[in-house]
Amino acid sequence: MDEFALARTLHVLGVVLWIGGVAMVTTVLLPTLSRLRPASDELAFFDRFRRRFARQARYTTLLVGLSGFYMIYVLNAWHRFTEWHYWWMHAMVFIWLIFTIMLFVMEPRARRAQQTAPAQLDSEKKLTKLQRVHWILLILSLITVAGAVAGSHGWLIFGA
Ligand code: HEM
Repeated sequence: MDEFALARTLHVLGVVLWIGGVAMVTTVLLPTLSRLRPASDELAFFDRFRRRFARQARYTTLLVGLSGFYMIYVLNAWHRFTEWHYWWMHAMVFIWLIFTIMLFVMEPRARRAQQTAPAQLDSEKKLTKLQRVHWILLILSLITVAGAVAGSHGWLIFGA
């Protein structure tokens, strides 16, 4: 069995489920919710939705991380982290780290805080901030996907 091909397949499936979910939330769910009133209802709905998505995304980030590090090990490609034209390798680990911290540290902490003292923040402001953060994460993730596909198939954009 070709373990490397299997790792690559699982890696891409994990990325599709995870970043695809982020894209759906950013481009469909949040804009739809922002048109509903009152804003506090939107946030309550989004919180329930986010909890469910976070549970699923924890598995997909784990899968992406494990398969990714396995591929680096098999390729013995650690040196890439010292070569700037492999910027997409740094980008993958960076995006993965951000989401890992969000999903495994910040989300459970926010949930616990909400149970003890429900948020008093202005709902409209919170929703606008949420949308901004999601757009930034989505754009960075898509640049990473484009760089990783191009780079791992030999097209090292910005370098030889
Ligand atoms: C710990 C985190 C990660 C590690 C260690 C990692 C590692 C890798 C490695 C070693 C490859 C194969 C490179 C090659 O064949 O030369 C790869 C491919 C790829 N990775 Fe990651 N990755 C990680 C996270 C991510 C994330 C977060 C994304 C998406 C935002 C991503 C998207 C991709 C894509 C699209 C490919 C190309 C697959 C293909 O076209 O065959 N990876 N990754």
